[in-house]
Amino acid sequence: MSVETKNVTISIEKAKISKIDQVDFDNLKFGSVYTDHMLVCDYRNGAWQAPKIMPYQSIALDPSAKVFHYGQAIFEGMKAYKDDKGDIFLFRPLENQKRLNISAKRLAIPELPEDIFMEGLTTLLQLDSDFIPTQEGSSLYIRPFMFASGNGFHASPADEYKFIIACAPSGSYFSGKVKVLIEQTYSRSANGGVGFAKAGGNYAGQFYPTQLAIEKGYNQVIWTDDTEHEFIEEAGAMNIFVRINDTLITGPTSDRILDGITRKSILEIAKDHNIPTEVRKITVTEVVNAAKDGSLKEMFGAGTAAVISPIAAFGYKGTDYDLPELENSYATKLKKLITDIQYNKSEDKYGWRY
Ligand code: COI
Repeated sequence: MSVETKNVTISIEKAKISKIDQVDFDNLKFGSVYTDHMLVCDYRNGAWQAPKIMPYQSIALDPSAKVFHYGQAIFEGMKAYKDDKGDIFLFRPLENQKRLNISAKRLAIPELPEDIFMEGLTTLLQLDSDFIPTQEGSSLYIRPFMFASGNGFHASPADEYKFIIACAPSGSYFSGKVKVLIEQTYSRSANGGVGFAKAGGNYAGQFYPTQLAIEKGYNQVIWTDDTEHEFIEEAGAMNIFVRINDTLITGPTSDRILDGITRKSILEIAKDHNIPTEVRKITVTEVVNAAKDGSLKEMFGAGTAAVISPIAAFGYKGTDYDLPELENSYATKLKKLITDIQYNKSEDKYGWRY
């Protein structure tokens, strides 16, 4: 069968047997069980073809597919939420669609029309809506991604691509607070590079330094700039916020830093709740000094998967600095404000709920 949405015809092959009975909704991990269906759209002969929804399944690729050799691969992270009435919501989905195409352009991947993204996603979610959890803190994590499926060892962009959306009912990304190491050797990104894009390779490059940090007893790395390792940039796979006295500070986005949707939403919400905010470069020296003199009140990571993840302690040049336990932390307050919008528990004066 196929459905005609406003601007796109989507063919649908339904799964014969649903996997929903195998999902333990009360003990969901992050991103490890998948829904019954996925959306697949191929780029071929210079154009994106009609999208298809099909049973979730493996995909066959030629060993010479360029994604394996040259890493032309990008992704997005989104969530779908269900409220008490069973209505389904997305959070600022057009921001993800736009950012996917920003990443695509940087990796020489053809941009995907908005209609395929949005109408494909909403049709898929309607079909798999029973997989959207209602348990506190859980949601349906949505992973749209695009990669070079075209063949050839020549180091040049592929002529064929696949756009896929796969979804996983998920619990929290981190359990509890995280301890981070301020990185002094490795870099996540460089000026003129691809740090602002959600390129798979950006994350692959983080794994080894993160493994080294884990061996030393940390959970994540705080990335610093690639020349002096003096400016704080991101925390693991999240944007980072630092609270010094009452001011909430985050670094400006750049070539090297991802333009996080949670990050920019937090900035807006904080301003509206009279939390003083600053978007400016943060130095490691000021954070260490603030930790020493007690003016460093909080640090937290922010991202779609992790929402807001408080940092319990950070390590720098062999010394660990603990952050205080605050009763009225900005992290707790902002997390409630943003998740209340996402789960349709509060008014959405921003028009972010979709
Ligand atoms: C997200 O927050 O959705 C991300 O894409 C980060 C990912 C590495 C889990």
